[in-house]
Amino acid sequence: MKVQRFKDLEAVSRAGAEELVQLARASNGPFHVALSGGSTPKRMHEILASMGRDALPWERVVLWWGDERTVPPDHPDSNFGMAKRTLIDPLKLTRYFRMEGEKDPPVAADDYQKRLLAEVGSPPAFDLIFLGMGPDGHTASLFPGTPAVGEKTRWVVSNPVDSPVAKGKTVRITFTLPMIAAAKHVRLLVAGPDKTHILPRALGTPSPEVPSSLVRGPDVAWFIDEVAAEELPA
Ligand code: 6PG
Repeated sequence: MKVQRFKDLEAVSRAGAEELVQLARASNGPFHVALSGGSTPKRMHEILASMGRDALPWERVVLWWGDERTVPPDHPDSNFGMAKRTLIDPLKLTRYFRMEGEKDPPVAADDYQKRLLAEVGSPPAFDLIFLGMGPDGHTASLFPGTPAVGEKTRWVVSNPVDSPVAKGKTVRITFTLPMIAAAKHVRLLVAGPDKTHILPRALGTPSPEVPSSLVRGPDVAWFIDEVAAEELPA
């Protein structure tokens, strides 16, 4: 696991965008990338949009999502909706498969898993998965104390969540840890003061109490900014 420090969110976002550019250019055939939700990825999406369609072989890139809220795609909380506004529409992208948050969650999770197995392969080894981390150490929608954290066989599940970080009691659709571990490259983008206190635990001893500490794979890298890194050893 690698940790790279950057000055601020802008620099973290530029680094994330550059990773996608380099990895997509170096690939052949379809390039399957899973986007993260929340607010951190917005700036990376905007940077990718500003680079234009020639920055990378977008015609070979297929967009997926690592998690989704159980809301319709046009809801302000939709992770797909955020990506549509900041990346898909500006670049007029057409190759994507969204998690259908408006459906019955277990059905939506099962449909997405079937689609992944058909399009990406079995096991579905993503070329790149972007993740974030919440102030409670969750990643994707793997929140501390929720059933999905312990899932060992399925790739996508619905996950009951009751957390102030998730705006109370809800259900999410999420990649599982085996799915994340199967990816060729994983990049976690973490920035801002609300991550400072949890980051030492996320980068420390793996614990289900801090699900992001359980992220593993052949090439996992954390892109963090100086504020989030403040409580890490120098
Ligand atoms: C979600 C995300 C989630 C996110 C973290 C960090 O659906 O909310 O996928 O895992 O990455 O909550 O969110 P911020 O980037 O907004 O801090």
